[in-house]
Amino acid sequence: MELKDKIALITGATSGIGQVTAIDIAGRGAKLVLPVRDTEKGEALKKEIAEKTGNTSVEIIPCRLDSLDSIRDCVKAFRQKHDRLHLLINNAGTWETKRKESVDGIEMNFAVNHLAPFLLTYLLLDIIKASAPARIVSVSSTAHKQATMNFNDLEGKKRWSSMRSYAQGKLANIFFTRKLAEELKGTGVTANCLHPGVVRTRLFDKMPTLFQRIFGLVMIPPEKGAETSIYLATSPEVEGVTGGYFAKKKPAKTTRHAQDMEVAEKLWQVSKDYCGVD
Ligand SMILES: NC(=O)c1ccc[n+]([C@@H]2O[C@H](COP(=O)([O-])OP(=O)(O)OC[C@H]3O[C@@H](n4cnc5c(N)ncnc54)[C@H](OP(=O)(O)O)[C@@H]3O)[C@@H](O)[C@H]2O)c1
Repeated sequence: MELKDKIALITGATSGIGQVTAIDIAGRGAKLVLPVRDTEKGEALKKEIAEKTGNTSVEIIPCRLDSLDSIRDCVKAFRQKHDRLHLLINNAGTWETKRKESVDGIEMNFAVNHLAPFLLTYLLLDIIKASAPARIVSVSSTAHKQATMNFNDLEGKKRWSSMRSYAQGKLANIFFTRKLAEELKGTGVTANCLHPGVVRTRLFDKMPTLFQRIFGLVMIPPEKGAETSIYLATSPEVEGVTGGYFAKKKPAKTTRHAQDMEVAEKLWQVSKDYCGVD
C-alpha cells in the first residue's frame, strides 16, 4: 500500500516491535499518530523518527490502554484533527506476571491486550471505512495456542495464571480479527493479525531471570520481529487479503479453537458489553 499522504495510527510505538514498525512506516511517508502513555518517551520517539526518516509529521496523543476512558479521549482527540485513517496497527501489549487490574477494575492482560484494541478499533471504524482502501493489523502471538476462551472466568477471578491470561488475550486478538474481517466485508478495509516471533523486547521484563535467559537463547531482534507487521501493513501481496493470521510474512496455522466463529461472535458481544458500546 502506498503510504505517502496516508495516516497511520500505531499503538505501543515507544518500545520494541512497535518502535521499529513506526520508524519504518514513517520512512514510507505516512503521517503518524501515536497514542502513548508516557509523553516524554513519545516526544523522544518523535525526534528519533525525524532524525532517522526526515518525517516530521508525527503526532503524539496521551493514551493509557488500561483505561477505557483514556481510549475514548484518545479517539476524540484524533477525530478533532482527522477524518481519515488508512492504517491502524494494534501493536501495544503487556505480559503481567502477577494478577493486576486496570483503571476500570478489569484483569490487566485482558484489558490491555484485547479490550483496548477492540475499543480503539471499534470507535475508529467509521473513519477507517471512509478511508478505504485501509488496513487494520493486530499483533497476536503463537502463545494463543496455550489457551481457550474461558467465558466463565475471562478475567481469572477464580483461577489466574500469567501464561493462561496472556495467551487468552492473544487468542482474543485472533477472534477479534476474524469477526472484524467479516464485519468489514465489501468495505475495502482488511483486518489481519500476526505472530512476530520471539522478540528481544521489554515484554519479558517482568519474567523471572531464568525464564528470560532461556527465551533469550532463541530471541530475534525487534527489526526482524517487526517484519510481519510491516508486511501486512504495506505489502501489495496482501492487498484484499483479510481475516488471516500470519507469521514470518506467510499465512500461519492457528489452533482449531481459534477458527470457531461462534466463539468469535460471542467474544465480540462480550467485548461490546465490557466497553459499553452498542
Ligand atoms: N516480544 C515478543 O516475543 C512477542 C511475541 C509475540 C507477540 N508479541 C506482541 O508484540 C506486541 C509488542 O510487544 P513488544 O514485544 O514490542 O513489547 P514492549 O517492548 O514491551 O512494547 C510494548 C508497548 O506497549 C505499550 N504499552 C503497554 N501497556 C500499555 C498501556 N497500559 N497503555 C499504553 N501503552 C502500553 C508500551 O508502552 P511503554 O513504552 O510506555 O511501556 C510499549 O510501547 C505486543 O502485543 C506483544 O504481545 C511480542
